[in-house]
Amino acid sequence: MTNRRKFLKKGCMAAAASTAFTIPNIANASEKEQNVWRELPQIKDEEFLWDWVRSEYSVSTSVANLNNGGVSPQPKVVQEVLAHYTREFNTIPSMHMWSKGDISNSVREQLAELAGCSPEEIAVNRNTTEAINTVIWGMNYNKGDEIILTEQDYTSVMNTWEEAEARYGVVLKWLSFELPIEDDEEIVEAYTSAITDKTKLVMITHVNNLNGNIMPVKKITAAVKKVNPDIKVLVDGAHAFAHINFKISDLGCDYYGTSLHKWLCSPFGTGMLYIKKSEIKNLWPLFTHEDPQSDDINKFNTFGTRNLPAELSIARAIYFHNTIGSERKEARLRYLKDYWITRVSDIPNVEIKTSMKPEYACALGSFSLKNMSDGEVAQKLYKNYHVHLTHKGDKTGKFHGMRVTPHIYTSTKELDWLVKGIQNLAKVQ
Ligand SMILES: Cc1ncc(COP(=O)(O)O)c(C=O)c1O
Repeated sequence: MTNRRKFLKKGCMAAAASTAFTIPNIANASEKEQNVWRELPQIKDEEFLWDWVRSEYSVSTSVANLNNGGVSPQPKVVQEVLAHYTREFNTIPSMHMWSKGDISNSVREQLAELAGCSPEEIAVNRNTTEAINTVIWGMNYNKGDEIILTEQDYTSVMNTWEEAEARYGVVLKWLSFELPIEDDEEIVEAYTSAITDKTKLVMITHVNNLNGNIMPVKKITAAVKKVNPDIKVLVDGAHAFAHINFKISDLGCDYYGTSLHKWLCSPFGTGMLYIKKSEIKNLWPLFTHEDPQSDDINKFNTFGTRNLPAELSIARAIYFHNTIGSERKEARLRYLKDYWITRVSDIPNVEIKTSMKPEYACALGSFSLKNMSDGEVAQKLYKNYHVHLTHKGDKTGKFHGMRVTPHIYTSTKELDWLVKGIQNLAKVQ
């Protein structure tokens, strides 16, 4: 009997439930599935575990999808719960759309637990873009207020700040980092030395979308607040939440926006905004609310009829994530990045653009070839090696590279396709 069959059989026969792993009612999980899932955290055989995880996804078997940083697939169980809700809502949509408050609250509680904060500080929304826009357009500005940001932040985030500059006369103070950067002191010093008595807000990208550099958010925030506790800190956590193991509450920031359809593998178009409790009353909601200056997080929830089936299904994605565990997931993701990088880093013409130090990078990795443009590499990898990925560049044109983002369902066999492709393309004259 194969390991997998033994495991499933054992799972079916597993004894009474461990209370630590309760399946939410909404999950509609079968008895067999519940037993299997309860056993998962105890599995010691790593490759067996990750094979099983992969079998829980319905991903392509003919193309290696290494652009999970763009948006990630949902495990089958999340797709099933989403389909379940969609069917249920379609019986009488208006009856279901406004009658699921208890489940919505439970989703917020579970997100809050994962983020290490209070549900009163969590607004569920569509994505990081919405979260960041909520903060940028929700603040009161005086002409000349200064915002510190970097040229390596996400393009649409920089664009939003540039619009605020045009509309409100805020002054953008741009920092620029040479990537990869592996020096906390240098990073912190760059932010703090840009502070003046006009500084209103500091923007930090927790894990950037170019080379996956992890920023020391906690240290930057502590240093900024030491200079002036009134300066607000906004974190773009699109690539950090449910990827690296941390709690938002430990970072000391005022606002944290993230997308749940990336590393948490929630339904497409699900995101989250954390606002420190004491800051809620000071931030205007993006969409009007009857009491826009209230200190109730629900004022950020008034964006009209929404995709509630998708939001309710977030709970199932959290369950999937928690079953594996944040620490184990982070370790696997870093292993996958190290796996392909260590196999190509010594090849002539290959330039690795991501840190190999665990504190500065996890799943996202970047490389370029000296003998070929990024666009051509992407095209050839897809056409000849069945590898799908993307290439990125920063605002300054100083940084460019192929971005490789495996996820927990990625197999080392797929990474071997990438490695083979890089080996061959690096030889082209
Ligand atoms: C750093 C960063 N911020 C924000 C976003 C926007 O995310 P979304 O499209 O989910 O709103 C992305 C998207 O990849 C990103 O990489």
